[in-house]
Amino acid sequence: MAQQIADTEEWKALDSHFSAIKDVHLRDLFEGDPTRGETMVLETGDLYLDYSKNRCTAETVELLVALARRAGVEQLRDAMFAGAKINITEDRSVLHVALRAPADERIMVDGVDVVPQVHRVLDSMGDFANRVRSGSWTGHTGRRIRNIVNVGIGGSDLGPRMATVALADFADRSLTNRFVSNVDGTDFYEATRDLDPEETLFIIASKTFTTLETMTNARTARSWLLDALVDEGAVAKHFVALSTNTDEVTKFGIDPANMFEFWDWVGGRYSFDSAIGLSVMIAIGPQRFAEMLAGMHAMDEHFRTAPIEANMPMLMGLIGIWYNDFFGADTVAVLPYSQYLVHLPAYLQQLDMESDGKSVTRSGERVGYQTGPIVWGQPGTNGQHAYYQLIHQGTKLIPCDFIGFAQPNQVVGDHQDLLAANLFAQPEALAFGKTRAQVEAEGVDPSQVPHRVFEGNHPTNTIMATQLTPYTLGQLVACYEHKVFTQGAIWNINSFDQWGVELGKQLAQKIIPELQDASEPNLAHDSSTNALIRRYRRQRTS
Ligand code: F6P
Repeated sequence: MAQQIADTEEWKALDSHFSAIKDVHLRDLFEGDPTRGETMVLETGDLYLDYSKNRCTAETVELLVALARRAGVEQLRDAMFAGAKINITEDRSVLHVALRAPADERIMVDGVDVVPQVHRVLDSMGDFANRVRSGSWTGHTGRRIRNIVNVGIGGSDLGPRMATVALADFADRSLTNRFVSNVDGTDFYEATRDLDPEETLFIIASKTFTTLETMTNARTARSWLLDALVDEGAVAKHFVALSTNTDEVTKFGIDPANMFEFWDWVGGRYSFDSAIGLSVMIAIGPQRFAEMLAGMHAMDEHFRTAPIEANMPMLMGLIGIWYNDFFGADTVAVLPYSQYLVHLPAYLQQLDMESDGKSVTRSGERVGYQTGPIVWGQPGTNGQHAYYQLIHQGTKLIPCDFIGFAQPNQVVGDHQDLLAANLFAQPEALAFGKTRAQVEAEGVDPSQVPHRVFEGNHPTNTIMATQLTPYTLGQLVACYEHKVFTQGAIWNINSFDQWGVELGKQLAQKIIPELQDASEPNLAHDSSTNALIRRYRRQRTS
């Protein structure tokens, strides 16, 4: 068996450092170095990362940086930027960074510069978005398009959905944006029940154009439209496709002229800045979309050039590894103090968990260490009144990323300062807690004291930007993309395939006829699955 990262000197050095530091309290770290709140920070573009409230010293960072060097993170990063086929199980380049490369850059895949293709598609998306926004692209009956329904799932849904909501303040408010992803028919029903077909545009977003959920919803959308407009010719004015698969788009009945293309070197969960972002572009306009791409590119350049210890995504990745692999933390909470970022945790869930939820190395050996964490969260302050109790006083270690902005998108009374006060209070409470002596000094009944103690020492990052804009959103998303990359590189896993989604898909295909056949099927599953199917068949028809 080849040497794994956990067998290296660098990992072992971290292991012994962990034994020395694991019980050191953040209170002591801050007491020992009162300036760490100003020194353990990084700034790039409009993003500011305060990582001082982590259970790390300068030595921890040094050892983590050495681990990254040993794992060859920089080499793999350079290979990605150079278009090498680092997605080895699918023999593909990994070039979401090319989606935001300026027109004068050159990035080669199989001897072809892909940057001109990217800009050709961006231009045609821009042209189409402007036509919809101005009303010059009309529906079949000549009415203006007012409703945009994105039909997609996974990476063809979560990114556009997250960004459209995140950037609502920059959107044309006369347009309604809806998203349909679930094969549960109620998702389609609820998204369309109050829409006028004559004013509705469906964007069918699917990299493969074969995904069961999306194709089912797309066919339902087609029937919904034709029930009202009757003429098959209406499809051309009410359906566009975003895909890499021209053949399947054509088979579905969408004119390839109405298809916006992307490429197999764009992973689904890394695609909302490709044609998959058309719904975002229609909402905020091509200029704002370009600003988002510029923010992503700025972070790409930072990731590509900054030394590891000053590299925001690399450092975030390394700190994550410190908790995941040494402290044994299973999860990471992402807590945006912005209601506009309500869908960011779900977006990051796919980005991180589909990328780094792997248990074999790039050469196929079982890993001897923990890989990708469980990612979860929702906007503060809502979570404070729900699950923060467990983060503060439970038995689990949950590293948290707090994300916030100095300026609100909408000034509403003094809400912003209240929001920001909570953003600063929670990491402070998590880090420093409240000691037994402090509780006792409050004159609390002795029997109550243990319940009111906050142990503290809960680690957090705080990420701040001036305001949530297309540019800062772009920076933030690219930062997380590269954080996930960094961790996958250290764990020596392939962050860019997703074979783990296949088995369930295959089994579902087998079960569909077993639910629908008129005659009792011959079931050959395990006894549990057989019994569930039989029960479903009985209840469905009773
Ligand atoms: O099943 C998982 C997955 O392949 C994701 O990786 C992807 O984002 C999603 O399904 C949707 O795929 P597609 O865009 O091809 O419909």
